[in-house]
Amino acid sequence: MKKNSLLVVLLALASTAQAQRTAFLPGQPWPDNKGTHLNAHGAGALYDQGRYYLFGEHKIAGPKGNSAQVGVHCYSSKDLYNWQDEGIAFAVAPEGSGSEVEKGCVLERPKVVFNKKTRQYVMWFHLELKGQGYAAARTAVAVSNKPTGPYKYVRSYRPGAGQWPLGYKEEWKQPAPGEASLKWWTPEWRTAVTQGLFVRRDFTPGQMARDMTIFVDDDGKAYNIHSSEENLTLHVAELTDDYQGFTGKWNTIAPAGHNEAPAICKRGGKYYLLTSGCTGWAPNAARSFVASSIWGPWQQLDNPATGPDADSTYHSQSTYLLPVAGKKDAFIFMADRWTPKNPIDGGYIWLPLRFEGDQPRLRWADRWALSAFDQPQPKAVVAP
Ligand code: GAL
Repeated sequence: MKKNSLLVVLLALASTAQAQRTAFLPGQPWPDNKGTHLNAHGAGALYDQGRYYLFGEHKIAGPKGNSAQVGVHCYSSKDLYNWQDEGIAFAVAPEGSGSEVEKGCVLERPKVVFNKKTRQYVMWFHLELKGQGYAAARTAVAVSNKPTGPYKYVRSYRPGAGQWPLGYKEEWKQPAPGEASLKWWTPEWRTAVTQGLFVRRDFTPGQMARDMTIFVDDDGKAYNIHSSEENLTLHVAELTDDYQGFTGKWNTIAPAGHNEAPAICKRGGKYYLLTSGCTGWAPNAARSFVASSIWGPWQQLDNPATGPDADSTYHSQSTYLLPVAGKKDAFIFMADRWTPKNPIDGGYIWLPLRFEGDQPRLRWADRWALSAFDQPQPKAVVAP
């Protein structure tokens, strides 16, 4: 072999070796197979036929990047450390097309699930109509025959139109005297929220749907969990058999609790929900909940994060709990470190989610690998 070609081979080998990761490095730039930092913010993941697929908001540089200029980016991986660029799975419609999903809309937190009955991949996301800020508060769906897309837009919804949540009291169906003039954030107003202030207001058009996730249960039923009622209350709404619409069955979670960024997993027959508070792009302390039924009652637990920076969830906000294939009760906490001035730079915090009894727990690690799940679950630390 000539000297030059040997050098080329060696350089190629060196660059491949460098690209192969064997650990997660939370908060560090995360290059894909082309060496470009992953562009999948507010992401969700899907495991399908031996491969993981990551879907997230494709962001561009500069503040304009906080609205959807491109669409949903997809990556695939066998090992969760090394991601191959699969391109844009769902593209926004051209500017001026008048489509709900036209360039410049807000498209956030895409989540993809597979529907066994229709054999289709179903993508849901939070949609805000172009030029309307965050007022539209809709959840939207697109479908594809392949995990990597292209996904075809179906429609958007305000869920729960004309339907009261489960267990809703008869007396809450009519406005309470004086409720319209209650001052926001007062205790009286908060009580009114728990008694259906916004549920009543949005009964006819349908309930608001902002930060969201999708969960498919063991029996194949799927649910859209979203921040509703001006982000005051989370709603869980059952999807139809094809996962493209709503059955009309829904309930509230933590009324007036002001939760965003829902991420859910199921372990030992119980449902665990992680959320954030509502401080926009700025991080805050995560919250955790447990329930024996997706319909509740949900019990609020502690901030799952521990150690330094637990009060800001290590400067991040939850987006998904990813079940690790082939490992029992192993979930990766996936979160975003938002950089709204230059959204494309946003970082990713992936940490192992562990359980102290019922309490989900996070601990910071500069570097960790899937073998972390082979360690025994942490013991509760008893305060001295
Ligand atoms: C966050 C939310 C993000 C995005 C942002 C806009 O609270 O989780 O998905 O909507 O607000 O300010």
